[in-house]
Amino acid sequence: MPEIKLNDELEVNIEKLSNLGLGIAKVDGFVIFVENACPQDVLKIKITKVTKNYAKAKILEVMSPSKHRTSPFCPMQKVCGACQLQYINYNYQLELKREVVQDAIRKIGHLDIEIPNPVPSPLIKAFRHKIQYPVCQTKVSKRLLAGYYKPHTHDIVNIKYCPIQPEICDKIVDFIREKAPEYRISGYDEKKHAGDLKHIVIRNSAATGENLVVLVVNSKQNSTNYKNLAQSIYENFAEVSGVCLNYNTKKTNVIMSENTECICGKPVIEEKILGKTFYIGTNTFFQVNPKSAENIFRYVKDYIAANFENPVVLDAYAGISAFGICVSDVCDKVVSVEENTDSCRLAEDSLELNNINNLEIHNEDAAKFFAKEKRKFDAVILDPPRKGCSVESLDEAVRLCNNTIIYVSCNPATLARDLKYLTEKGCRVQSIQPFDMFCHSFHIENVAIIQG
Ligand SMILES: C[S@@+](CC[C@H](N)C(=O)[O-])C[C@H]1O[C@@H](n2cnc3c(N)ncnc32)[C@H](O)[C@@H]1O
Repeated sequence: MPEIKLNDELEVNIEKLSNLGLGIAKVDGFVIFVENACPQDVLKIKITKVTKNYAKAKILEVMSPSKHRTSPFCPMQKVCGACQLQYINYNYQLELKREVVQDAIRKIGHLDIEIPNPVPSPLIKAFRHKIQYPVCQTKVSKRLLAGYYKPHTHDIVNIKYCPIQPEICDKIVDFIREKAPEYRISGYDEKKHAGDLKHIVIRNSAATGENLVVLVVNSKQNSTNYKNLAQSIYENFAEVSGVCLNYNTKKTNVIMSENTECICGKPVIEEKILGKTFYIGTNTFFQVNPKSAENIFRYVKDYIAANFENPVVLDAYAGISAFGICVSDVCDKVVSVEENTDSCRLAEDSLELNNINNLEIHNEDAAKFFAKEKRKFDAVILDPPRKGCSVESLDEAVRLCNNTIIYVSCNPATLARDLKYLTEKGCRVQSIQPFDMFCHSFHIENVAIIQG
């Protein structure tokens, strides 16, 4: 290991991007992660952390910028943690994400599969349809602040304008910031676990422009003040289809509790994907970028249509049965499995709305459902959370599938781990296609087609 110490100043070349979006430089083979760096930059850096295996550094000076650098379109990019890669031009972001997936598949998955370019997001601004802003208030003037956290802190960046979300969200948040004090509603103090308004959550429909607003409050019940604020939001914005209160008195990182009350309007918005209408609730999972999600649903639907005749398909980790409903037209039968009860209820409502009769929904843990299921499926869709699938679920998915597993993943590392396990069990990975769902962040979605 070279002699690298805290506060050392060095000149380095950035070779590539890490899976967490940090630039990687090497000094005699020793890895240094550099924040806000772009491959092909030549930088003067200062070491901020040293461990046995790696160091971390910040940029002191960009001595020669990479040709892929660009000016971030958001003035808050440096202080807000949401768009880590906005200073890199979009096409190169895609190439870097492709390399991250390729690395994970080779190094963790031990698979020699060439990863193609990611399918770009149809929109790279105003693409984000769920926002969750923490709220606090200033000590002296008692002004409310709402926005994302500064990277590595719980300091709130007061965001007035966020170009990656629809403009209406800025207007609604601004209105709440102004009006809440008039209704004697304070911002939350995380350290003291005191104050009223903890989070503002907005679900926006890309198709209809409707907005569902949730005020997460540090209280067990509704008060006149909360109710009046909710009413005032509803009355002032024709685009707001409902305002809910979520009562969350716990000192926790979990944003919403199970306890939500709809104060005005309806507790859902309607989203449209591939000609189908979906109900999305306050806390039910739906992909943050509906236009990019539509590309993924189309890809999976086209694959099933091209490879099977009247198939029976299992849609596991189904959420509001987004895959199930999208592929139902090209299937004889679809079976969706999801553990979240609200998602299952909304999925049932969406079935009725879309007049779909060949989809059955099971509100259950996926592994438990798999273990007792006797039917065989032509294709099994797995779309688990970031942590991936358990070994038991993968074993059962192989047992239940006649032919193909379609694994949809938002985490290349756990996808690669699970693909390694499946190939060791005799499956063959036919293809992996990345889709950019989370522009300007290091996140990337993938669809792997596996022959079981
Ligand atoms: C990444 S989301 C995918 C949702 C859906 N496929 C979509 O595209 O909208 C993962 C879903 O898995 C559900 N989930 C997590 N663990 C589960 C489990 N053990 N059994 C069943 N569902 C689970 C979550 O509630 C969430 O809805």
